Amino acid sequence: MGFVALVLTGCVHDPLYMPEPQPVPGGEPTVVEGPCDPETVYFQEDVLPLIISNCAQSGCHDAASAEDGIVLESFSSILYGDDNDLVVPGQPGESELIEVILETDPDKVMPPPPAEPLDPAIVDLIAEWIAQGALNLSCEEAECDTTDYSWSGRILPLFELNCAGCHGGAEPDAGLIITEHSQVLTAVAYLSLLEHVQQLDGYSPMPPTGPGLDSCEVAAIESWIADGMPEN
Ligand code: HEC
Repeated sequence: MGFVALVLTGCVHDPLYMPEPQPVPGGEPTVVEGPCDPETVYFQEDVLPLIISNCAQSGCHDAASAEDGIVLESFSSILYGDDNDLVVPGQPGESELIEVILETDPDKVMPPPPAEPLDPAIVDLIAEWIAQGALNLSCEEAECDTTDYSWSGRILPLFELNCAGCHGGAEPDAGLIITEHSQVLTAVAYLSLLEHVQQLDGYSPMPPTGPGLDSCEVAAIESWIADGMPEN
């Protein structure tokens, strides 16, 4: 509209205002070398897996479904999609993403029932990321910690972050509740869980969108399986 108005009213002697071409926003994350700052929320590792698992299910906000025109599976689709107010950097209180999560009206709340409301810790983390400027940061620890692959210390938190939004709640995808140790044992034995997270040819990748687990996370799952999958 602004452009049209300028064309109609602009004085012929003035050069027409043309914005500088901008680089495509948000494509590649800014990668920070570890040690990662515990106070900083790193979008790629801390926020994106949660948003994918809780919002980008098929039929919801993955690219194929794009409910309400909203796609929540990458930094650019979240920040530069059709809805400009979804995330307002620095202002979680103004961001519709937070608003719909905290909504109390069952017709408006996200994720919609029968999904459970998001855990307050997840909401706080997303809000903190927005408060810190909604940056596209990534941090990988320089060294992969291969010593801890216990169920409670490493494997369960990893599944909670990357998988539980889809494989949990009232209607888990593939009938698989990923936070239940016994179900994971079955999924490893009969549903090729490892091959899905390794994203091997012939296996639908898990998680289905986004960058997937990094090599250090996959290695932890491999070690835990090789160790007999203890519930330790
Ligand atoms: C965005 C939603 C979503 C996320 C996140 C997700 N999954 Fe899935 N998963 C599905 C759906 C849908 C299916 C059933 C269709 C299929 O197999 O592709 C499925 C199927 C599976 C299956 C069964 C495959 C089969 O052959 O029956 C396993 C095992 C699995 N997922 C493991 C995981 C693990 C482990 C993670 C996390 C690292 C994960 N998934 C993350 C949606 C998801």
